[in-house]
Amino acid sequence: MSEQQRIYPVDERLAADAWIDRDRYQKLYRQSVEDPEGFWREQADSLSWSKKPATIKNTSFASDNVDIRWFEDGELNVAHNCLDRHLDSRGDQPAIIWEGDDPEDHKTISYRELHQRVSQLANGLKSLGINKGDTVTLYMPMVPEAAMAMLACARIGAVHSVVFGGFSPDALAGRIVDSQSRVVITADESVRGGKQVPLKDNVDAALTREGTDVVESVLVVRRTGGDIQWHEGRDRWFDDVVDQQPTDCPAETMNAEDPLFILYTSGSTGTPKGLKHTSGGYLLYAALTHRTVFDYHEGEVYWCAADVGWITGHSYIVYGPLANGATTLMFEGVPTYPSHGRIGQIVDKHNVSILYTSPTAIRSLMAHGEHIMDDSRRDSLRILGSVGEPINPEAWDWFYRVVGNSRCPIMDTWWQTETGGHMITPMPGATDLKPGCATKPFFGVQPALVDNDGKRLEGATDGNLVILDSWPGQARSIWNNHDRFVQTYFSTYEGVYFTGDGCRRDEDGDYWITGRIDDVLNVSGHRMGTAEIESSLVAHQDVAEAAVVGYPHDIKGQGIYVYVTLNDDVEPSDELKQELKQWVRKDIGPIATPDVIQWAPGLPKTRSGKIMRRILRKIAANECDGLGDTSTLADPGVVEDLIEHRHVRT
Ligand code: WTA
Repeated sequence: MSEQQRIYPVDERLAADAWIDRDRYQKLYRQSVEDPEGFWREQADSLSWSKKPATIKNTSFASDNVDIRWFEDGELNVAHNCLDRHLDSRGDQPAIIWEGDDPEDHKTISYRELHQRVSQLANGLKSLGINKGDTVTLYMPMVPEAAMAMLACARIGAVHSVVFGGFSPDALAGRIVDSQSRVVITADESVRGGKQVPLKDNVDAALTREGTDVVESVLVVRRTGGDIQWHEGRDRWFDDVVDQQPTDCPAETMNAEDPLFILYTSGSTGTPKGLKHTSGGYLLYAALTHRTVFDYHEGEVYWCAADVGWITGHSYIVYGPLANGATTLMFEGVPTYPSHGRIGQIVDKHNVSILYTSPTAIRSLMAHGEHIMDDSRRDSLRILGSVGEPINPEAWDWFYRVVGNSRCPIMDTWWQTETGGHMITPMPGATDLKPGCATKPFFGVQPALVDNDGKRLEGATDGNLVILDSWPGQARSIWNNHDRFVQTYFSTYEGVYFTGDGCRRDEDGDYWITGRIDDVLNVSGHRMGTAEIESSLVAHQDVAEAAVVGYPHDIKGQGIYVYVTLNDDVEPSDELKQELKQWVRKDIGPIATPDVIQWAPGLPKTRSGKIMRRILRKIAANECDGLGDTSTLADPGVVEDLIEHRHVRT
């Protein structure tokens, strides 16, 4: 049998205690699409509202009126839901277990302690002039202060914008300016895999860029004690601001549709866009998916190995787990340090039941063999999860056998920054698994496949993945640019949300995500816009033109392949290749560093001047036989040159 036909049926023992079994999934799913109001009204009872919503759903995907509101007359506070309401029943239970980069470094923070610290920080932010509706940028390592800062913002109704700590000063500056943040929270340095990253230096550099003079204060967490520059009047030590504050800070009453956070992500064109997520619907969706997809039960230790700089960290390290009163493990380091068995060691050390990670992490370990986990038992594990990119069956199998001892089901969760939470995913007690398949829609999610003209495709088929109706966790807009939101997601096909992903539906109605069909790359599970990398390259004095495509990469999923046309007077050289790689790395961040640069005397273009990426992708993938129709090219000769000089991986 081929890999794709292998089926792992639901473990009946697991199903017996699961929140959702087969029957319940069928029944609830049907209700969620036939009567969304009724379904979500009932689900909303799991949150604590200061004013219960009477109106549940008020949403339109029509391209002339994209307007998405859930629970619009409801009022609540997200931090209250994640902290205060747990104090009576589980105040002394660990809320966060922090595992440092160094295995000797760890600490546990109870719900009571977290509540106190968040309240103090919230008061601290107020003392810096931050009020309801203001934005705050976070550029943080994976330390508990990152979660505290998010929750402190939520507590006072400020809107946080977390920028991944691997982004460059320029990328950070762009996001600070776009969100107009008056306060930035950072740390002296972050530590990953035994190496320091100079976060504070990066903030200093970012704040020399145009437009960043909106920033009045920089709060600095002392993580390593490393050397940093100090700007009197602007910079403050986190502890100095927070320690002196009262531990009591009333949670601001927020409307369900008030913004909770902005998160920037890459698209096919232009600069990264700040997706706007709001309070009530987002929190409910994050909490419900976390509880049901990971079948979270009281007292379990749950570990999502993402970074808080991505949506996965927002929904499944912080908001979902804490809303459910879970114990969430936060890991500062990388899975390969100090040894390849680190994940297993952490699982044993903290008794982890649920482990949620990425195909890239799995592939980076897989390369080191079957025995790297032999120094751990991993008996506490019950459920595994995967996110970020399609998981190839080989990686699925290794994860299942070597990490999960062939007894833990893998939840392959498909979703996006834009969706706020899981969209297509198995559930442990309800879904038979197929390696590499995201399987079935979550409650309230109506996926459909369409052809390039937007015609609905039925039955077993390939197509473009769209979602027919709104769900509560959906992003509401792009910060300060609703037109771009409409343009990006609701104008390709009328009346539906376009995901940008290709997908196959099989005979059982299971969904297999096949990857992006737009100009977005997925490198190690990180989204990169080809346009961003191209515009960085053409900003270099020697570059006339650049085209960026993805190619299959054993570990990263996709690698970055760049075709560069140099200015006439410039000689190509290996030194220049290195220089261009460093240029992009410095401009955007290490994750955007090109893997391959090929000199291109010309790029294949249509007569109207459009670059034919389809052809460039094929050449990069070394599939030169099936180049398809090249008759519309302005100069078919350039293709032969590119084929001849392509970079073939060994
Ligand atoms: C891809 C991450 C296949 C997909 C939560 C999507 C996946 C993009 C999966 C979103 C999966 C994410 N299987 N592909 N389980 N999960 N993707 O916004 O292409 O960083 O559109 O959100 O990652 O990436 P983002």
